[in-house]
Amino acid sequence: MESTASELRKMGEIVLEKLENYLSESQSGKPKVLIQRSPEEISDTLELENYIRKGCLNIDNVGNLLDKYLDNTQHLHHPQFIGHQAASPHVASSISDFIHGVVNNPMAIYEMGPAAATMEKVVINWMLEKVGWFKGDRLSDIDPAKVGGGGILTHGGSMANLTAMLAARAKIDPDAWTDGTSKDLVVMGPEVSHYSISRAISIMGMGSNAMIPVKVNDQEVLDPDNLYPVFQKLKSEGKRIMAVIANACATSTGLYDPIAEVGEFCKENGLWYHVDGAHGAVALLTPKEKHLLKGVELADSLTWDAHKMMQTSALCAAVLVKDHKNLDQTFRQKGSYIFFEKEQIGYDAISNAIECTKSGLGTKLFWALAAEGEEGFKNFIENQYQVTKEFYKMFNEHPYFECSNAPESNILCFRYTKFGNDNGFQLAIRNELIKKGNFYTTTAVVNGVRYLRLSVMNKLTKPVHIQTLMEEVEQIALTLSGK
Ligand SMILES: Cc1ncc(COP(=O)(O)O)c(C=O)c1O
Repeated sequence: MESTASELRKMGEIVLEKLENYLSESQSGKPKVLIQRSPEEISDTLELENYIRKGCLNIDNVGNLLDKYLDNTQHLHHPQFIGHQAASPHVASSISDFIHGVVNNPMAIYEMGPAAATMEKVVINWMLEKVGWFKGDRLSDIDPAKVGGGGILTHGGSMANLTAMLAARAKIDPDAWTDGTSKDLVVMGPEVSHYSISRAISIMGMGSNAMIPVKVNDQEVLDPDNLYPVFQKLKSEGKRIMAVIANACATSTGLYDPIAEVGEFCKENGLWYHVDGAHGAVALLTPKEKHLLKGVELADSLTWDAHKMMQTSALCAAVLVKDHKNLDQTFRQKGSYIFFEKEQIGYDAISNAIECTKSGLGTKLFWALAAEGEEGFKNFIENQYQVTKEFYKMFNEHPYFECSNAPESNILCFRYTKFGNDNGFQLAIRNELIKKGNFYTTTAVVNGVRYLRLSVMNKLTKPVHIQTLMEEVEQIALTLSGK
């Protein structure tokens, strides 16, 4: 086929009709949520090699190829998708992906996508406003001196965490960019920090041992009383603390660290404070849940993913800083093809980003937000957090289910105890659950105990689905126990 405008329309019509059916079928909850086949089987069924060798994709076979592709997807719109923290995307956001796929405006340089760059700036300002780091008059203010805070959208929370760690390093050790990272730099954070933090530290050449764990309580929440002893010990060893991390919320449990207390500690000791709010910073969008992030304005940087709880497809994450100068000084680069004197209209995000070519990420969030408005987002988050509390009650009222903790967000860990407390047994239950394909859940170890883990990402997930899940888990457990 030729890559022409009329082919786009013809192919687009076929694809859209199939996607419409896919979406409504998924949302009906009738198909399996996941049928997992091997890559070899998928490759053969989709005839991937044949397409590559012959280049034979056309209007006549695109529908067939797409049908087979969709048969082998994880159904994130399905009410029984309660697994990883990936959004069931808003259709408005999906459409923005399609538009980006056509216009392809990688907007890290303003000239390469003025509208996309502007959308990113405006949604960043909106996020800064929610944190309390926006001093402008209108969200379209772009002058950093006027805005106060700064930020950038990145391809994922891991990249946002890496950017925040680089900003923290630039602050404490400005020469590290040219001379390499000093050996005496360390980062303190809950021992259950997301792995992307220690990965960032390793990428930065500090070695993962530079991530100094601060003990958490039996629900894996950081206990601020444990900060001082670790801090004093590190000082006595001559270490410099590059950053202190808190979770908002923790990946396994969905529980929030005491954000304000950690903030006060950092303020007293002049330390860079990074809040990893990849999942849970959305609590800022609702007066009902905002208290979970009380004190966030004390932070220096915040990671906040839109592709988790703000209904965009993967990826769209933000790293925000209280003082824009800290991000402006993070990266230093040369490249006459990009960095040269020019009459600058707008601003080039590239100076604040790891990526060179960067997708129009702001469009994903803008379109979802434009469709739902702030009120729609607020209602969505409140609903997800509230139903998770209802699900917790259901597990708790059952004699053989127990949860690791009462939920604070839309993440919940549970296990089935009738046949004992063996961690391996919970994993075996999960394996069977996945094989059956009616539900998709993940699993996590909390305080040494293995649980099945729910992230309630989809507003269609209701108590009736959890009731059916509990029945299926019981049935699986009975069969596995051989009783
Ligand atoms: C607390 C936390 N930080 C960071 C990340 C990484 O984000 P991403 O998957 O967007 O790279 C996650 C992902 O689950 C997370 O829960």
